[in-house]
Amino acid sequence: MDFDLAEPHWEELRDYQEQNRFDLREQFAADPQRAVRFTYTAGDLIVDLSKHLIDEGVLTRLVALGEACSLEQRIAAMFRGDPINTTENRAVLHVALRAQPGDTFKVDGVDVVADVRSVLTAMRSFSDRVRQGDWLGHTGNRIRTVVNIGIGGSDLGPAMAYEALRHYRSPDIDVRFVSNVDPAHLVAQLAGADPEATLFVIASKTFTTLETMTNARAAKSWLLDRLGGDESAIAKHFVAVSTNATAVADFGIDPANMFGFWDWVGGRYSFDSAIGLPLMIAIGADAFEDMLDGFRTIDRHFRSTPLERNVPALLGLLGVWYRNIVGHPTYAVLPYSQDLHRFPAYLQQLDMESNGKRVRLDGSAVPGDTGPIVWGEAGTNGQHAFYQLLHQGTSVVPADLIGFLEANDDLGEQHDLLMANLFAQSEALAFGKTAAEVGAAGVSPELIPHRTFPGNRPTSVILAPKLTPSVLGQLVALYEHKVFVQGAIWGINSFDQWGVELGKVLASQIIEELGAEQPDLSHDSSTNALIERYKAHKRRL
Ligand code: F6P
Repeated sequence: MDFDLAEPHWEELRDYQEQNRFDLREQFAADPQRAVRFTYTAGDLIVDLSKHLIDEGVLTRLVALGEACSLEQRIAAMFRGDPINTTENRAVLHVALRAQPGDTFKVDGVDVVADVRSVLTAMRSFSDRVRQGDWLGHTGNRIRTVVNIGIGGSDLGPAMAYEALRHYRSPDIDVRFVSNVDPAHLVAQLAGADPEATLFVIASKTFTTLETMTNARAAKSWLLDRLGGDESAIAKHFVAVSTNATAVADFGIDPANMFGFWDWVGGRYSFDSAIGLPLMIAIGADAFEDMLDGFRTIDRHFRSTPLERNVPALLGLLGVWYRNIVGHPTYAVLPYSQDLHRFPAYLQQLDMESNGKRVRLDGSAVPGDTGPIVWGEAGTNGQHAFYQLLHQGTSVVPADLIGFLEANDDLGEQHDLLMANLFAQSEALAFGKTAAEVGAAGVSPELIPHRTFPGNRPTSVILAPKLTPSVLGQLVALYEHKVFVQGAIWGINSFDQWGVELGKVLASQIIEELGAEQPDLSHDSSTNALIERYKAHKRRL
């Protein structure tokens, strides 16, 4: 079925929304079993959807929409390795990255599992050597600092996971991440690093990305300047993660020190491929395998659970409900976990680069809204920043609150304080405080409107036992598949990213103009003036 808002399944959802009141106070009062009925499990994740503006009628209609959009067949097509990335004619098989020996995933009729496992074995051997001090730098020093140079999918995933799995990291090796082409990033991240004990991981699927290659060249100069200029040092201090062996060799990295992956892994779906190498060095290969097992747990759930209980599918369908029927353009991800503080940034790329599309698979314009704006911040920090708007602003922002039953750090009751805040926020957002309740609490009449909370602001609460490697894998797979579901409903290609191209092309033209003496500027008057102002200042330096 095409994404056609005039189609009966969409009409039915819209009619149902118009004809029913979705009042959480009323619904919880009418049904003491509501929390039980709308709480689902997938692997170790417990997902409470009861504080959403839904009832059985909504879910039934959303599931029917999913069926009408052949959601289950599309899931099967992804796992089968069909070239569902149609604009690039590629399979989308990140699920093969967590395969175990004995599993089968085929691309063009060829099973890729042996290749996946052999890269994992090479990563294990390399990361063990670094961790154990067997991989030595040019001057015989063991590696103490690993600097990952990559951007987008070659940065956000491993950087997020490195923070998330702080508790599982080796204390002997510090991993740093450089992504921005702003020289400040590389300089700041290299501060205090000992060149004799520093290993660079150049992570780029294409090995052509401007930011990464610029930082990689600067890192090479930094190292060679400090190690006497002997180019043979590069072999001991630089490894690459890429699909482009030729460019890796041209850069000067021995292809023996390259960890490969494949064009059927999208950048934003790649941190469980060799792109996870800096993470594996930090947490060790066994913990990395535990993380892969977590991904696999949710893959199995997603592949085989009927839509009515399929948690990634339900989250995706709920997102469609809010985006297309209720009409909320953004959603927030609020991890009640400081270690997950980079999770919203990671999800921004995963979701917005995947589903920020305006044409369907056949190139025709989409007739409604697609990917939402994703944003968020770790709780409780967000509470003291933007929650005012979540509670009393004029925009409603559906939110996912993520928390853990057990802390990794034991500071007495402090974890209770954190979780109390999570529970309180989802309760306050859902039920608010009426003017009558505020008045009854003795608030003076002129302040009552200011201190009233409308409530009925929807949240999912996602609970997991503890932030372990496996649970992190489960959480990421949950969102990967949620994004897939939404792309399938909207009939868009979630796996290309042509929207990033235009800016890159213009930037490379402007780079030349910034370097030229008298460039013939032919942009609009605003861009010309900005470039001229910059060049004039540069001339005065
Ligand atoms: O931002 C565009 C993009 O192509 C992302 O999709 C990708 O994750 C990132 O650039 C980095 O690409 P590469 O790994 O090829 O350097």
